Amino acid sequence: MRHAARRLAAATFLTLAPALGLTAEASSISPWWKHAVVLEVYPRSYADSNGDGVGDLNGITSHLDDVVSLGADTIWITPMYPSPQVDFGYDIADYQAVDPQYGSLADFDRMVAEAKKRHVHVVLDMVMNHTSDKNPWFVDSARSRTSAHADWYVWNDGVDVNAPGVTAFQKRYVHDGKVPPNNWQSMFGGTAWEWAPSRKQFYYHRFYPQQPDLNWRNPAVEKAMFGAIRFWLDRGVDGFRLDAISTLFEDTKLRNDPERGGTNPHGDPNLHYAYSDKLPEVHDVMRRLRKLVDAYPGDRVLIGETYEPTTEALVPWYGGKAQDELQLPMDMLPGFGWGTKFDAAWFRKHLEDAQVQLEGGTPLMAFDNHDNERSIDRYGDGKHDIDRAKVLAALLFMNRGVAMTYYGAPLGMTTSVPARKEDVRDPVGIANWPNDKGRDGERTPMQWTAGPQAGFSTNPATWLPVATNYSTVNVASELKDPQSLLQWYRTLIALRQDNPAIRDGRMVFVDRTNPDVLAWVREGEVPVLVAMNFSDKPRVLKTGLEAKTIHTLAASTPALSGAASLDGTTLPPFSAWVVSFTR
Ligand code: NOJ
Repeated sequence: MRHAARRLAAATFLTLAPALGLTAEASSISPWWKHAVVLEVYPRSYADSNGDGVGDLNGITSHLDDVVSLGADTIWITPMYPSPQVDFGYDIADYQAVDPQYGSLADFDRMVAEAKKRHVHVVLDMVMNHTSDKNPWFVDSARSRTSAHADWYVWNDGVDVNAPGVTAFQKRYVHDGKVPPNNWQSMFGGTAWEWAPSRKQFYYHRFYPQQPDLNWRNPAVEKAMFGAIRFWLDRGVDGFRLDAISTLFEDTKLRNDPERGGTNPHGDPNLHYAYSDKLPEVHDVMRRLRKLVDAYPGDRVLIGETYEPTTEALVPWYGGKAQDELQLPMDMLPGFGWGTKFDAAWFRKHLEDAQVQLEGGTPLMAFDNHDNERSIDRYGDGKHDIDRAKVLAALLFMNRGVAMTYYGAPLGMTTSVPARKEDVRDPVGIANWPNDKGRDGERTPMQWTAGPQAGFSTNPATWLPVATNYSTVNVASELKDPQSLLQWYRTLIALRQDNPAIRDGRMVFVDRTNPDVLAWVREGEVPVLVAMNFSDKPRVLKTGLEAKTIHTLAASTPALSGAASLDGTTLPPFSAWVVSFTR
């Protein structure tokens, strides 16, 4: 209720502000996205409204009340545009329509309208780096070297197979005596260059051959892509998650990416992507795109798929001090890699860095998405998976910044990797089996109920099988269990939405030398202490904080509900405690 009242107050302010000559910046009301709780929805897998075994937009619309019940205020929908679905939508054939498998534009408009009624923001995925090879732009481009779109993609004659400097890797791909012009690789394995007999040339594809890279050095490409972005902004979407933006540009001299030694899971040489990734030109595009979205009312947002190895490396994506590029480059580090483990000290360092290194930018953290093994499996130990997931949820929702989660994560849905190659749907798994079994495991149908197909579809032939644990891991069952992971998510998100200190308060870390406990205070009129024990042993919390009164807001285990002191309380193994206090 309080939450709804706050939204109403914000809406009233924004309506009156122009008349009063005020801007949102001039007031204490910050843009909505600064506090967003984003739920990533994979449309194929969320809810099937028409019984074809594949999720769709009407399915999403019919579950908007569940989004509200979870407490999320934003949904990011992965691509739902017409697509041959080679990469399940990340190969777009038409940027200004809806794939009939997912519904129609009318269904889309209805979904946005229903979301708005519930104060849920809608963020779309925008794939600017590449299109489908069935996109009419590419079909025309591949037709001949003189077609209207001839220069919309990255074409090259290749080099003579016997030319000096040609690597063994290049020599694997000979066509008409020619090999690719360099050693650049597809992220999905093998060379990034595909031979097109129609032009007797190679085209570049950072991902699948069916995903040719656009030539961003051609201004017509930017014009077309920005036109598509306007199309959806005009339809009322609140922003975009920008796919694979770091690879928009390639080196004009096509220099080889240096080898790092060893081979990757695809059996290809490990490379340092010096000439095929993060070229500086991308930032000019980001600045122009930011101007475009800023010209729209309602604080439209740009979220970036920005896998970076350090917090600092995210800064250029924000636009540095100027903060004139993406509002929310994703911080994928704690979620997805570079040696992260379930470790209090590691997370403390990372969260501290995010508070000070981003030039005032808002951090966005995520632990789960459609490309990576689910975090419950990555961070689980097989024995305390739910308890550990509760600790990570506290870390995600109680820190300052935007929190992003993925459908099923709040339930503890697990990764269900296909057992046989013939069951794999993701081409990454088909091409690289068994070294890389692909991403199907984290894309299985949403588990709504303990009924047939987990309530995802009436059709037993779902596009991927429903995970076997659905009879206990599902929304309906977990809503009935006060100790479930879902209830823990709901409690934390509600706090985050309604508690002023948790929404806006500065983060001050306490008990900083404790190797097993991560703890901080969110400052405010009524401050809040958040404490997590990352160890399998009880650990004593040493904050040095004195409090006149304390009030537990959330405890991952009932053992903590009666804890009476901010200093000296014993935190049970793998537990999290959120407590407000007065000084
Ligand atoms: C990142 C997306 O998240 C992934 O699913 C996709 O395969 C690649 N980009 C290529 O678009």
